[in-house]
Amino acid sequence: MSSVMGSGQAEVLLSLKEVSVHYGAIHALKNVSFDVHRGEIVTLIGANGAGKTTTLRAISGLTRISGGSILHAGEPISGLPAHRIVRRRICQAPEGRGIFLNLSVEENLDLGAWSSPAPEDLDQDLAEVYELFPRLKERRKQSAGTLSGGEQQMLAIGRALMSRPELLLLDEPSLGLAPQIIERIFEIIQKINRDGKTVLLVEQNALQALQIAHQGIVLETGGIKLSGRAAELLASDEVRKAYLGE
Ligand SMILES: Nc1ncnc2c1ncn2[C@@H]1O[C@H](COP(=O)(O)OP(=O)(O)O)[C@@H](O)[C@H]1O
Ligand SMILES: [Mg+2]
Repeated sequence: MSSVMGSGQAEVLLSLKEVSVHYGAIHALKNVSFDVHRGEIVTLIGANGAGKTTTLRAISGLTRISGGSILHAGEPISGLPAHRIVRRRICQAPEGRGIFLNLSVEENLDLGAWSSPAPEDLDQDLAEVYELFPRLKERRKQSAGTLSGGEQQMLAIGRALMSRPELLLLDEPSLGLAPQIIERIFEIIQKINRDGKTVLLVEQNALQALQIAHQGIVLETGGIKLSGRAAELLASDEVRKAYLGE
């Protein structure tokens, strides 16, 4: 295993090796390889259709890979059913939020705890989510359908946190939100990371994602176009021209 703790670099928590995904004749991911080190925010950026969601779904076990392998803490997880991957503390807040609009905020959060390794600590986990998202506490008895878009996104993230993830997978959390709310969501992602969680953040909002990330990966039509330290990608002419509109 390529864990090199103690030599200045954090452990490789997740590793994709030459991962391919096909949807029928569509080759949606082509030999995608990258590592996520424990404690980092890694952002996967790229245009609509680049394969970002497919990458997250492959990691979560929701989409079958047609080649390569995915390792968690050095052990292969590709091929495991999604519920077994969740139990390895890899949790996704799905694209489109995926919350239950007819249930209350608190009921949605309770449901997130189904795979918690410590369900007896539900109240403590709820308190932590409410501390991170005071708006959700204020609205805990309201049905999720009455929340604003930003609040629903917060609820989706909060629900994922209820399962005590080690690796949090976020699929375009800024999608469709007003600029001020986006800023708030990105601050919260940084706080979650500082609290010890590793984050794989999928975004079309390349500028803001690279600003909070440690590492960045640029996907283009199913393949990795560029990758490196986020600060270096932010400074590169190629990224500035193609993704930051400069
Ligand atoms: N269920 C599916 N069936 C067929 N093609 C799909 C399916 N999901 C995604 N695709 C195709 O795979 C490619 C990558 O899609 P996706 O991973 O959703 O990209 P992104 O999240 O970067 O927008 C696109 O060409 C998309 O049309
Ligand atoms: Mg997507």
